[in-house]
Amino acid sequence: MKLETITQRRVEAFDRRLIFQEKYLDHEKNLVYRVSLAGREYILKAHPIIDGKTEYLNREIEALKRLGHEKEFPELFEVYREGDGRSGLLKQFMPGREASRKKWNSNWSKRLSLLIQKAHYYGVSDLDIESRNLILCPKRKTLSLPDLDYAVFEGDVEPKDFEILKAEDFTKAKDLFGERKNVA
Ligand SMILES: Nc1ncnc2c1ncn2[C@@H]1O[C@H](COP(=O)(O)OP(=O)(O)O)[C@@H](O)[C@H]1O
Ligand SMILES: [Mg+2]
Repeated sequence: MKLETITQRRVEAFDRRLIFQEKYLDHEKNLVYRVSLAGREYILKAHPIIDGKTEYLNREIEALKRLGHEKEFPELFEVYREGDGRSGLLKQFMPGREASRKKWNSNWSKRLSLLIQKAHYYGVSDLDIESRNLILCPKRKTLSLPDLDYAVFEGDVEPKDFEILKAEDFTKAKDLFGERKNVA
């Protein structure tokens, strides 16, 4: 059987309506494919179920539910609880290319800082902000963060759990977005 047919069958194991387009990742850990459905493009991402648990998938689902309506983060369309030993999700395809040092400039830094502030505002802190997880689209002037399986949530973690994470960061973001008045 041709490799494309095998991949298409794998995709159909999650959802019969999906058509395989392009492979981004396919290893024991994750599977990430660009797929299409009714002429629109999406990302199918699946994780192995380890000891009956789908911790990483659940983190990503929770983060996308909180952030998916903001333009910097993909919208969540479906959750698949069964597959060939994996569970998965279908999310919005973010056009552009992975960030690189060559293309990076202070404008992208400003957009990244806004993106992080937005996530904090919704109580989400992503512990995996790296160039491979940042999609730049110079044409649309957009920066997006599609990979959220290392997200942690306000109240879930103690500042001491991660040296880099400080509880006040969540509060500061709320102030910046104007939820509280009379901030010095
Ligand atoms: N929603 C998306 N839109 C566009 N590209 C994506 C999207 N999700 C993932 N990708 C691309 O696929 C790559 C792998 O997906 P990712 O979710 O980061 O997997 P992993 O959790 O294994 O790092 C990313 O580095 C990114 O280039
Ligand atoms: Mg990634």
